[in-house]
Amino acid sequence: MKILLIGSGGREHALAWKLAKNNRVEKIYVAPGNGGTAKEDKCENINITDIDELLEFALNNSIELTVVGPEDPLTKGIVDKFKANGLKIFGPSKEAAKLEGSKSFSKDFMKKYGVKTAEYEVFYDSNKALDYLEGCSYPIVIKADGLAAGKGVAICENKEEALNAVKSFMIDDIFKGAGEKIVIEEFLEGVEASILSITDGQTIIPFISAKDHKQIFDGGKGANTGGMGVLAPNPYVTDEVLSDFEENIMNKTLVGIKEEGFDFKGIIFFGLMITKKGSYLLEYNVRMGDPETQSVLYLMESDLLEIIEASLRDELYKTEIKWKSGACVNVVLASKGYPGSFTKGYEISIEDEIKDKVFLAGATLEDNILRTNGGRVLSIVGVGNTVDEAREDAYKSINKVKFIDKYFRNDIGLI
Ligand code: AMP
Ligand code: GLY
Repeated sequence: MKILLIGSGGREHALAWKLAKNNRVEKIYVAPGNGGTAKEDKCENINITDIDELLEFALNNSIELTVVGPEDPLTKGIVDKFKANGLKIFGPSKEAAKLEGSKSFSKDFMKKYGVKTAEYEVFYDSNKALDYLEGCSYPIVIKADGLAAGKGVAICENKEEALNAVKSFMIDDIFKGAGEKIVIEEFLEGVEASILSITDGQTIIPFISAKDHKQIFDGGKGANTGGMGVLAPNPYVTDEVLSDFEENIMNKTLVGIKEEGFDFKGIIFFGLMITKKGSYLLEYNVRMGDPETQSVLYLMESDLLEIIEASLRDELYKTEIKWKSGACVNVVLASKGYPGSFTKGYEISIEDEIKDKVFLAGATLEDNILRTNGGRVLSIVGVGNTVDEAREDAYKSINKVKFIDKYFRNDIGLI
């Protein structure tokens, strides 16, 4: 079987590594891939990102399955296009991908189907939004409607910060159209959890839970990033939290997917806030998380390709996903300066004994030399029977990876 895998992050390196374990897989083309997928077993990078060119590649190269990593091609309708050309592809349709692509669409969906979420209002007019802020209690959360590369959410402690956020999103248009419409939302206090899951539109099976560490500095301080490391399972997701989630969030989402008639055979990722009043849904993503994937797939005992195929055949109802016991921690090694500006192009050395525990992200392979090429350069995975053992396993490997300006958090997995 030849697979086309779309994306270039650590998530895609982990997906390629896991898919390659299936004996039926002969080749995985990764578009565009990174320095990790360039070296991975059975993988070859192809330098294509345009959807029409990807389609042509799939048609001309006997691709039997396409797996889409990031949200961008999904919201642009890659799934609809591939299907219209008779190709098998794993991911939601363009319409279903609006659950991630538009915050107002997803909030309205949650409200319509009774999915537990923060109170909110949608604004199209900046004057109305600015007026509304006069009567709010603070803190409050302001979200750009469209995709803003993870930067479209402002937690505003007071009215002045909120007025500034509305102005920069709606009037200064800092997200180039993504903030024309905004959602203003109740601030929720609690701890976060990521629950990735797979659906075929009739059944949703949750994966093992995960805990991202979004801020750049230890102790959850500093700017938000794409994620600096993940612990799985998430210790806050107890059996009680899980059944609350299934009843008030997951099952209601599934009713909505069915009622709306969404063509959704793919990943649905629930971003939760666990509060004293139960769990609330902050957002949907319609793809795997990065770096959640690196920890979650490391603990997945079952074969990922078979699970994806079961989803495409509408057979998740008879599928069971098996997980390894214990814990997994992945620590992201970033370029110093990220999420602000940083220098690229430094040589990366990785000692052989830990090669199987490294997923590359912002790294390229040129003339057989790995070089830094992004903010989040790679992540190192550690496993163990307990969280402490998993942390120790990950952290002891960090000095076996060297590059200039290496930066990482010391508290990944600590709760
Ligand atoms: P989102 O893209 O909606 O997940 O928001 C990004 C991050 O902003 C989340 O991971 C939370 O840390 C924070 N956030 C979003 N919505 C809220 C909310 N209503 N209350 C508190 N924090 C929030
Ligand atoms: N790590 C969070 C995300 O992938 O959205």
